Amino acid sequence: MIIDIFSLFPDMFNGPFSDSLMARAQSKGLVKINIHDLRQFGEGERRTIDDRPYGGGVGMIMKVEPIERAINSVKSDDTHVILLTPQGKRFDQKMAMNLKEKKHLVFICGRYEGFDQRIHDHLVDEEISIGDYVMMGGELPAMVVVETTVRLLPGVITKAEATEKESFSDDSNELEHPQYTRPEDYKGHLVPKVLLSGDHKKIEAWKKSEAQAKTKRNRPDLISPDFDTQSEEE
Ligand SMILES: C[S@@+](CC[C@H](N)C(=O)[O-])C[C@H]1O[C@@H](n2cnc3c(N)ncnc32)[C@H](O)[C@@H]1O
Repeated sequence: MIIDIFSLFPDMFNGPFSDSLMARAQSKGLVKINIHDLRQFGEGERRTIDDRPYGGGVGMIMKVEPIERAINSVKSDDTHVILLTPQGKRFDQKMAMNLKEKKHLVFICGRYEGFDQRIHDHLVDEEISIGDYVMMGGELPAMVVVETTVRLLPGVITKAEATEKESFSDDSNELEHPQYTRPEDYKGHLVPKVLLSGDHKKIEAWKKSEAQAKTKRNRPDLISPDFDTQSEEE
């Protein structure tokens, strides 16, 4: 997979993409990530990227032509262009599973008051939000989407079942079951006996029922989509 990311703050990506599994995925050649300075596609001597909104209003809007030039500089027939915006579809594991099938992903990170609507309407294939809140820019959202997607690429996590049997990853709509490691006794809080029994059938049954109980407790909306977690908490 090839990933091209366009941002006004390309240095922000240095840390998160050069450590741990993200670094290994790149050094193993499983993904090639190119970070581009969006400013180089700006207009005039000052490389202008933004302008004032028609009709008035606060802040600056990202212009359409620089974004078009940026996309065209890397675009091929396999390209899938993603706009990071709080107005997009809320990102989830299923979307990451779809993205991992693409050969070439392009991410456009916004700043200021966001994008000229014609960018949303005519230049991108998908608009993604990482949640119902507004951040300062699209860089952290891009990192969230890229890391979640790259993690699913074959060979990035060496044990395939690690990504197959976890929260949000199968059709059961369940969170992963509770997990324990040593010590067996932490200040009187014991590891459930069944996990020490060696009886694999019983262990699997326990995992299933605990996963269901945890989902009901923490994320009832996964079981009944109409359930409103927020108002329940208020
Ligand atoms: C301050 S925000 C602009 C928000 C815009 N005025 C609005 O109300 O939708 C600047 C940029 O941050 C990014 N951004 C902020 N929150 C985001 C989110 N939840 N998901 C994805 N991108 C986000 C987008 O690229 C956005 O263009």
